[in-house]
Amino acid sequence: MLLKDRIAVVTGAGSGIGRAGALLMGKEGAIVVIADRDETAGKAAAEEICSAGGRAEAIATNVSDDTQIERLIATTLDRHDRIDILHNHAGIQVGGPLTEVGTDGMDTSWRINVRAHFLAAKLVMPAMVAQGGGVIVNTASNSGVFYDHEMIAYATSKHAVVAMTRQMSIDYARHNVRVNALCPGWVDTPFNDPFVAQMGGREAVETYIRTKVPMQRWATVNEIAEAILFLVSDKSSFMTGQALVIDGGESIA
Ligand SMILES: NC(=O)c1ccc[n+]([C@@H]2O[C@H](COP(=O)([O-])OP(=O)(O)OC[C@H]3O[C@@H](n4cnc5c(N)ncnc54)[C@H](O)[C@@H]3O)[C@@H](O)[C@H]2O)c1
Repeated sequence: MLLKDRIAVVTGAGSGIGRAGALLMGKEGAIVVIADRDETAGKAAAEEICSAGGRAEAIATNVSDDTQIERLIATTLDRHDRIDILHNHAGIQVGGPLTEVGTDGMDTSWRINVRAHFLAAKLVMPAMVAQGGGVIVNTASNSGVFYDHEMIAYATSKHAVVAMTRQMSIDYARHNVRVNALCPGWVDTPFNDPFVAQMGGREAVETYIRTKVPMQRWATVNEIAEAILFLVSDKSSFMTGQALVIDGGESIA
């Protein structure tokens, strides 16, 4: 088992990519704390890990609320004495160009995509330093390493996640804390439902993806979960400050 007895906290783990990564961490022996704002989905993910023979618990957490992040980290440290893995995954997408995105859309994007990752990492870091090391994965997106049309708030916040990841990584590398960014492209999860609606339905999006992505398809959540496992395990033991892009070639086409 790659993660035997490691304590892992995953935000946004009630669905999609975060959930698939959490399930794989559980399978690899981690004790997984599922932190999703959707309490039912969070509990269901934790139960699935447990019914597969793993160990998990859910702590309902909305990462846009500082006090809930503080409670998540304090409760986990109280129960387990350490946190080996923090996967900051919850995020939102506010689409649109400069003239259509309100300051509220920019503020919310910053608060959830960047500030929440910052705060959770800030609260976990002293414990990781004291225990001799740890791993943080911050979910960005391939929108954190390239530019698409009409994504001012999303691309800006996701580029900031990559910058923040790199800065954290060099500041704490000597404490054996590794920090990397996860940069998926199109992954088939409910996260894209608003875009599917905006495009006029599933078929339009399939055509769009066939045109834009060199591999001509969506990623599955399991393909991204394998990359998460790589980043949080010792398989990536000399890797820090990197943005791991898994996007079927979209960002370099
Ligand atoms: N799906 C994609 O194509 C794709 C591509 C690149 C990056 N991402 C990133 O992945 C993340 C979304 O993951 P997904 O695609 O698995 O989506 P998803 O919709 O399947 O799951 C998102 C989960 O996050 C939870 N969540 C949302 N806001 C939250 C909050 N404020 N606090 C706590 N939990 C919250 C939801 O309840 C849900 O369970 C985002 O950070 C997004 O930028 C997704």
